[in-house]
Amino acid sequence: MGEMADEIDVAQLRDTAKAVMTRAYAPYSRFSVGAAGITSTGQIVSGANVENVSYGLGVCAEVSMVCSAVAAGALGTTDDAPRPTLRAVSVSDGRGHVLTPCGRCRQVLREFGGDDLLVDTADGPRRLGTLLPDAFGPDHLRDAARPATAHRPETGR
Ligand code: THU
Repeated sequence: MGEMADEIDVAQLRDTAKAVMTRAYAPYSRFSVGAAGITSTGQIVSGANVENVSYGLGVCAEVSMVCSAVAAGALGTTDDAPRPTLRAVSVSDGRGHVLTPCGRCRQVLREFGGDDLLVDTADGPRRLGTLLPDAFGPDHLRDAARPATAHRPETGR
């Protein structure tokens, strides 16, 4: 096992990821992927990869999971209503083996779980902060954003 997983049932997440993997839409790569996560309220969320004939439009299982969870109100935050965060995630390849999320997915997952998100690996759960060190985050936007200026149509800016 990797880092501490508290009371999180990693076996349950692995089973769920494996089950949703069978529903992947991956006719081009033939590489099915399923992702399962648990939120801070204990809700299980899941997703599968969805490919496209225009290859670059394919969506990874982790992104699919995040999008369906946000749409369901299981994840994410709006201004006036805080919603749950992601606590742990496990991803399965087509053989049912644990797959460590690709780089883009690590960034997407960080948005909802932060550095403390537990990401399952072949060696057990590890903190996202160790898998995506020095990540770009909301603080960078806050610190470096230009002050808002009025839009001036006459200048085109
Ligand atoms: N894939 C995922 O769904 N998640 C990952 O973390 C890695 C890759 C998908 C994308 C594509 O549909 C297929 O696996 C082959 O790359």
